[in-house]
Amino acid sequence: MTSKATLGVIGAGAMGQGIIQVALSGGMTVQVFDAKPGGAAAGIEAVQKRLARLVEKGRIDEAELTEIASRTSVANALRDLGGCDVIIEAVFEDLELKQQIFSELEEHVSDDCIIASNTSSILISSIARACRHRERIAGMHFFNPVPLMQLVEIIRGPETSSRVAERLSELGTRMGRTPVVVKDSPGFLVNHGGRAYTTEAIRILHERVATPAQIDAVMRDCHGFRMGPCELMDLTGIDVNFPVSQIVYDGYAQDPRLRTFFPHKALYEAGRFGRKTKAGHYDYDEDGKAIGADGGDFETDHAPATRLIVPPEPARNITAAFAREIGCTVAESDDSGSPILVSLAGEDCATYAARTNSDHERLVAIDLRGRSDERVTLMTAPGARPECLATVAAAIIAAGRRVTAIKDSPGFIAQRICAMVANLGCEMAQIGVAAPDEIDLALKLGLNYPRGPLEIAEDFGVRDMLEMLETMQDITGDDRYRPSLWLRRRALLGLPCHTPN
Ligand SMILES: NC(=O)c1ccc[n+]([C@@H]2O[C@H](COP(=O)([O-])OP(=O)(O)OC[C@H]3O[C@@H](n4cnc5c(N)ncnc54)[C@H](O)[C@@H]3O)[C@@H](O)[C@H]2O)c1
Repeated sequence: MTSKATLGVIGAGAMGQGIIQVALSGGMTVQVFDAKPGGAAAGIEAVQKRLARLVEKGRIDEAELTEIASRTSVANALRDLGGCDVIIEAVFEDLELKQQIFSELEEHVSDDCIIASNTSSILISSIARACRHRERIAGMHFFNPVPLMQLVEIIRGPETSSRVAERLSELGTRMGRTPVVVKDSPGFLVNHGGRAYTTEAIRILHERVATPAQIDAVMRDCHGFRMGPCELMDLTGIDVNFPVSQIVYDGYAQDPRLRTFFPHKALYEAGRFGRKTKAGHYDYDEDGKAIGADGGDFETDHAPATRLIVPPEPARNITAAFAREIGCTVAESDDSGSPILVSLAGEDCATYAARTNSDHERLVAIDLRGRSDERVTLMTAPGARPECLATVAAAIIAAGRRVTAIKDSPGFIAQRICAMVANLGCEMAQIGVAAPDEIDLALKLGLNYPRGPLEIAEDFGVRDMLEMLETMQDITGDDRYRPSLWLRRRALLGLPCHTPN
């Protein structure tokens, strides 16, 4: 793409304006068309106001601002975009409207002009169906707000040429973004890969295992996510993430791994869309602060436990080391009185107790995956003695950690959410949505994940991750947890999760 490249932008709304801004920053000349009278000029003006703020902050000078402004112009009709090298469409999310625009554009542009859509949910192949030269049609999916979100997905339809994907990637880089080439598929990469984190949280709520505040705290404190899934849903808006979940679920022929559950629909139907309606998973006060978001930590007046039974399996060494760290002596054989502390992976307390013939009343399971220096999750079986949980929790609290106590759950909170995220990432690699490294990169940039899904599988251990998923699938009988063949093959062969095939 030469430095004189001219970009056409159709639709000067929220996304169009962001695209105009990063294109101008990349030195391009930009022509803008919007069907609303005065819409293009208003969009350009809004961008110029934002750029003027950069002058105030000393990031660019007045002369640069004037030069940038000289590179924008209003197009009065689609035909005025005839001289563009690349055109990005960012009008309403409506297939017929986009098809109409694309087929009309083909009447006016040169043969090597690339036409891309910023659609977030429509397949590029559906838009290209209306076109004669489908090899030059692609997706260029930016994220909101464009100037702050580094990622751009370059969507390659079945007929998009590799040259077009390359040129759009170059363009993305020139606009200061990080491009990732993605197969034309439901939800593309980020909106597909992002499903697991939120829908598994919804599933946990559905089973009444934990509250939104508990789920969010565990994912933040033990696994380094910037936001927990419930606060994230409230931020993006349930009016957006519930329909997107349905689109991706239906797009993949209702794969149970992508299924969401009734609490999601209940919030949607009630108009509890999150921050924008001051009610979602949380209620919000006048200042927009979530009420009760810090809650959910276990509190007790009980004296700390001093002696714990730690059975020989699983993970005795790790569990015993933790027990000593919180000031308890550790016994291996049962004394019929002390709490039994066990660190489970993918299993729930009831299954463990039945399998090992342990006393479920004194059993306290702990999640020692991820960080445990700030917070730990404890769970107990139905019928457990409350004082066993309370004394173990008291010892942990006395040792300076917070405790999240939940109901019995295969994989606690974090193991099941991490396993679902990792498994979906592996499945995306298997079906070729993008290359393994790009899947990790895109979810870190697009959703702020601390680690990509395949990196999460590596952190847990590829084999352990497979076993955790198999255990969850066995206990629940739900194919939602069935391991991706990508993960299974690498686990069986002892290979790193990123090994290509
Ligand atoms: N908002 C987001 O978070 C987001 C993120 C990624 C992708 N997208 C996608 O980007 C596209 C635009 O979204 P948005 O949020 O900027 O919408 P928006 O409503 O803010 O802007 C759409 C603009 O398109 C103009 N328009 C409508 N019909 C037109 C036509 N026939 N010709 C020219 N202009 C026309 C409207 O006047 C409006 O200015 C959609 O496809 C959306 O799915 C949105």
